[in-house]
Amino acid sequence: MAEPGSPRQTILLQTAPDGSPSAALAQAATLLHAGELVAFPTETVYGLGADATNTEAVRGIFLAKERPYSDPVIVHIPDAERLSLVAREIPERAWQLAARFWPGPLTLVLPRASGIPALVAAGGAMVGVRVPSHPVAQALLREAGVPVAAPSANRFMHTSPTTAQHVLADLDGRIAAILDGGPCTVGVESTVLDLTTDPPRMLRPGGVTLEALRAVLPLVEEPPATVAMAPPNDEPAHAPGQTERHYAPRTPLVVFDAQGPQALAAIQREAIEALERGERVGALLADEEAEALADLFLVIARLGPRGDLAEISRRLYAALRTLDEQSLDLILAHTFGREGLGLALEDRLRRAAGGELRAVAGD
Ligand code: TXA
Ligand code: MG
Repeated sequence: MAEPGSPRQTILLQTAPDGSPSAALAQAATLLHAGELVAFPTETVYGLGADATNTEAVRGIFLAKERPYSDPVIVHIPDAERLSLVAREIPERAWQLAARFWPGPLTLVLPRASGIPALVAAGGAMVGVRVPSHPVAQALLREAGVPVAAPSANRFMHTSPTTAQHVLADLDGRIAAILDGGPCTVGVESTVLDLTTDPPRMLRPGGVTLEALRAVLPLVEEPPATVAMAPPNDEPAHAPGQTERHYAPRTPLVVFDAQGPQALAAIQREAIEALERGERVGALLADEEAEALADLFLVIARLGPRGDLAEISRRLYAALRTLDEQSLDLILAHTFGREGLGLALEDRLRRAAGGELRAVAGD
């Protein structure tokens, strides 16, 4: 593993999105097995993979991402049968959730098994584990034959990658390879659920909705509304992806806590003020809203039809990156309610904006 900064060749390996066998897949698995870092697609976002049982390989993840060691990494396995390689004292409710949501975008936090180095868990006794559904991730995990530690394949605090090109933009020269299996379909990260507390607590909203979890475990608690910027001491942060600034573009982003006509009016007002100051302004908008604001000189990234939160989630990070590349002075956006994927969208937009939503007058 090269130190960050020391140039190395990152190879792009193309493979079919359906996970069918390929030389690229085999090479990616071999590299992982040899302790190298390989980015790969999951249904949520691209992950930066390393053999989770190899401490030095896992250390490489933190170096490549410039991620603090206090932020634990999720371990990926191809099926629930292998859960005992990663976690111990697995409660019945974990099996219930696994049966319902795996493979899929749900991470369970459980007591860590002895075969998983402490570094994976930020030195803590708990480990996050999930079974991704992406056929390429499935094929890679089976071929590699080891649990794979993988955070999102972006530099620390940056926007998560939903294509191989996004990974390249952040990590070229820092990792051995990127397995390109096409764009991710869910687009926001997995839901993280802590099963070591009673009742279970959602630490991060994500691809599996709170409503869906409560259909299995009615008492699941909502994620905390705001979380401290950093852990108070050297303890691992309990939900460390939960720093207030995260998933962030470099361009200042203002997110209005509103929907519909109110949100549109607020964006219009703010945009006009900024345009009058001579600024270049971008906006993240649903398709119908983009039509409504077509007369303003805005750089607009369309997220999809207003009611289609799955499509909006799928496109969110790519849209943020596209706007971030346009040398804008300001990006404007709004939330999409708190139902279903709306909760995850609100969380990511708030963190991308540095931790705060802008209240809309009259709300
Ligand atoms: O969808 C996803 O979860 C993606 C793909 C690649 O699987 N991965 C991902 O990893 O988003 P990452 O490292 O960017 O976010 C992992 C987050 C942590 O920041 C934390 O919130 C939670 O998962 N987590 C992981 N291990 C944990 C642990 N032992 N205790 C508490 N939270 C943990
Ligand atoms: Mg991340």
